[in-house]
Amino acid sequence: MGYKITVERAVQSRISEVDFNNLPFGTVFSDHMFIAEYANGKWSNCRIQPFGNISIHPALSALHYGQAIFEGIKAEKDADGNPIVFRPHKNAERFNISAERMAMPEVPEELFMSALDQLLTIDKDWIPNAPDSSLYIRPFMFAAEELVGIKPAEHFIFCVFTSPVGKYYNQPVKVYIHDKYVRAFPGGTGFAKCAGNYAATMMPVREIRKLGYDQILWLDGIHHRYLQEIGTMNIFVVIDGIIITPSLSEGTILNGITRDSIITLAQDEGYVLQERDISIEEVIDAYQDGKLEDMFGTGTAAVLSHIGEFNYKGEVYELPPVEGRDVSNKLRDRLTTIKSGKAEDMYNWLYHVPVDVYEAQMQ
Ligand SMILES: Cc1ncc(COP(=O)(O)O)c(C=O)c1O
Repeated sequence: MGYKITVERAVQSRISEVDFNNLPFGTVFSDHMFIAEYANGKWSNCRIQPFGNISIHPALSALHYGQAIFEGIKAEKDADGNPIVFRPHKNAERFNISAERMAMPEVPEELFMSALDQLLTIDKDWIPNAPDSSLYIRPFMFAAEELVGIKPAEHFIFCVFTSPVGKYYNQPVKVYIHDKYVRAFPGGTGFAKCAGNYAATMMPVREIRKLGYDQILWLDGIHHRYLQEIGTMNIFVVIDGIIITPSLSEGTILNGITRDSIITLAQDEGYVLQERDISIEEVIDAYQDGKLEDMFGTGTAAVLSHIGEFNYKGEVYELPPVEGRDVSNKLRDRLTTIKSGKAEDMYNWLYHVPVDVYEAQMQ
């Protein structure tokens, strides 16, 4: 169908003010953002404009009732300095799965990809060069009804901005396994990337931070026994050479794109990989038998991050030194070299932004 996207360029780029060697996650924003509006059953008013505040009505429904979803994607540079994006079509698909659960309209893949294409073309110089750095892309949608009243909205805003980022974790992650609070339960919204899922975790996370932990490893909402996922990562456990990750079948965890990529690479490497329920008792038994070789999380922001220790019911369990964790180190290296275009893209995971086409169009 083709969406007309107007472009208003920033008068002056802010890029010279940025220290690309020091990029705390999510604090620096590129020059432009994309916005589209949904009304009367269609997306229109699609535009790229200078990054900046947007004015909102105090009764904006997303602020009151939380109809809001988002995605996280990373772009790096190819050898010619052009943007390569890791599996963005998967994010477009997941965005629409989240949208459906939250009674929000579909963002057609064509619109989603055009927004990325044009934004990355115009701000490609914001993609950092340093190893472990990338341009984080944040598409999001929120209900924009200007009305106090609980009903599915009919007006929405879809927006995309980008942010150059360095490493998410510099140390192995310390996780706290909560047996009190839960993140999701069957029939709920656990599989959706909706704002409320994260809001509900803030208070428990604040509590465990005071105890010196980084993240919560959530257990299932019914039995409080089975591993689910970490705040921004899916979880993998290696017991006696077998890689185990919770299955997606209950709809309580996010279908992580990094998770899917790691599963593919693990199978490609010939490892035994099981997607199944894994209880905290099974993990602790393996630890006590000396068979718990590794635990790690996977996510777009955190890539593959090792778990250094976990706490369950006040007991601290320390995992082996990171250097010796051959399985996860190998999988992380394979993933990062593919992502940065330095290894053969055998699964067709990289999307090359056609900058020449867009540069010509945006003249
Ligand atoms: C709750 C949650 N689980 C898992 C992930 C990892 O998903 P992905 O690999 O698609 O980034 C994320 C991050 O997006 C997340 O927020």
